[in-house]
Amino acid sequence: MAQESVASSSPAREYSDTVVRLFSLAAVLWGVVGMLVGVIIAAQLTWPELNFGIPWLSYGRLRPLHTNAVIFAFGGCALFATSYHVVQRTCQTRLFLPQLALFTFVGWQLVILAAAITLPLGMTQAKEYAELEWPIDILIAVVWVSYAVVFFGTIGTRKVRHIYVANWFFGAFIIAVALLHIVNSAAIPVSLTKSYSAYAGVQDAMVQWWYGHNAVGFFLTAGFLGMMYYYIPKQAERPVYSYRLSIVHFWALIFTYMWAGPHHLHYTALPDWAQSIGMLFSLVLLAPSWGGMINGIMTLSGAWHKLRDDPILKFLIVSLSFYGMSTFEGPMMSIKTVNALSHYTDWTVGHVHSGALGWVGLISMGSLYYLIPRLYGRKQMFSVRAIELHFWIATIGIVLYIAAMWIAGVMQGLMWRAVNADGTLVYTFVESVKATFPYYVIRLLGGLLYLSGMLIMGWNVVMTVRSGRAAAAPIPQVAAAHA
Ligand code: HEM
Ligand code: HEM
Repeated sequence: MAQESVASSSPAREYSDTVVRLFSLAAVLWGVVGMLVGVIIAAQLTWPELNFGIPWLSYGRLRPLHTNAVIFAFGGCALFATSYHVVQRTCQTRLFLPQLALFTFVGWQLVILAAAITLPLGMTQAKEYAELEWPIDILIAVVWVSYAVVFFGTIGTRKVRHIYVANWFFGAFIIAVALLHIVNSAAIPVSLTKSYSAYAGVQDAMVQWWYGHNAVGFFLTAGFLGMMYYYIPKQAERPVYSYRLSIVHFWALIFTYMWAGPHHLHYTALPDWAQSIGMLFSLVLLAPSWGGMINGIMTLSGAWHKLRDDPILKFLIVSLSFYGMSTFEGPMMSIKTVNALSHYTDWTVGHVHSGALGWVGLISMGSLYYLIPRLYGRKQMFSVRAIELHFWIATIGIVLYIAAMWIAGVMQGLMWRAVNADGTLVYTFVESVKATFPYYVIRLLGGLLYLSGMLIMGWNVVMTVRSGRAAAAPIPQVAAAHA
């Protein structure tokens, strides 16, 4: 087996956990910030006066700030932290080029700061989830390639023959995001802060939603499945339910996701056959998604009782229920006739947040609750009761958020398509906006609950870090299974 190749400040027999600590704490911080901005824009949708007439506080600028903060800052930092933690434990070696790993931390924080400055200033490429202007895109590409070198270098220098399935998912996420980002961000700069897409018209739209949907598939799904395959077995102290299923799950999922993007472009100038392919692959996607969910949930077989008093397991398992729910709903929404009702309505926003709050949020929080005390030499978090409280507040928040959006969405879709016998519209658009008002208030309440849960987590993390100390974790010498 290859030798460890890098010099670093910490002894070679210890895992390189400094970067894991930094990314874990950053994830919690950016979670609070991103969700706070989510609450602000939810309030602005309810009471537009809250835009205050100040351009950089306006909804149109804060919305991309919210999506970038929660997906790339909160989700991204959680993914960096967990992948760096998992790859070392499952390969029983320290990170390849730990200094480069530290560079990915600094570089990623610079990307986040640049986003936090430029988006409120209105600098944007106007592509959803790929808004950042070209100089920041270049920095992202450099950080991401460094991330790939560290991750795959660690796999290459592993001390065990086998590559555990969590690493397959993290690896696919890293490769796919590099590919998506570089292709979709191709642009012609006209100044330091302005560029135009290298693609035009419907090709531009197709490249954008090939990117957009695979950002869901690889950024918001594959990496978090990597977390699922490591932290659920660890926390439940049970092996993965079916290793064979996990391999089928992996190949089926990554093959199918790549083709589903056109479901974002139903009834557009995109050729009809391309839309139908998008719909077909989205329907097929239900199978691998549910295969993975079942594999995660069934890992608890024989240990169901642990759910009763282990709040971390509650986070991890309930996240899978939301994953199952949103990956059932997504294929349904991809059916053209259903999409004719759901598109442009708050139903989409409900779907997004059942995936985002329920799946991405809860699995990240559960994994971080497992990880953070161990990084600071403690058996568990400072307050286990606070984890339990967080779990319930967050879950009630999600239910309020998504139920409000489902009702609002279906109502809007039905109001917009209602016609009188003479073909005129039954409702004006403004009537549908007025009818949505109570649901926006309920969504705001749900968001406030979810944010409160995150603040409790922030307090719990601060107390855990203060009462613990950065702990060195020795690398076991025996090449046992996933330590
Ligand atoms: C306190 C929690 C949160 C609140 C209150 C919140 C609120 C909102 C609001 C009001 C919007 C705009 C909806 C619209 O344009 O009609 C939005 C969009 C979005 N949020 Fe959140 N959000 C929260 C957390 C999250 C998290 C944790 C994620 C991801 C991990 C996320 C991902 C998104 C995405 C992807 C969109 C764009 C949806 C679309 O274009 O259809 N949000 N959020
Ligand atoms: C089998 C899996 C899934 C399928 C087939 C699917 C399908 C869909 C469809 C049809 C739409 C509506 C497109 C439109 O009308 O514009 C949509 C929107 C969206 N979905 Fe999913 N979905 C899946 C899972 C998920 C998950 C797990 C998440 C989050 C973690 C997610 C996040 C999103 C986002 C962010 C959007 C909004 C995109 C935008 O317009 O900005 N999806 N999805």
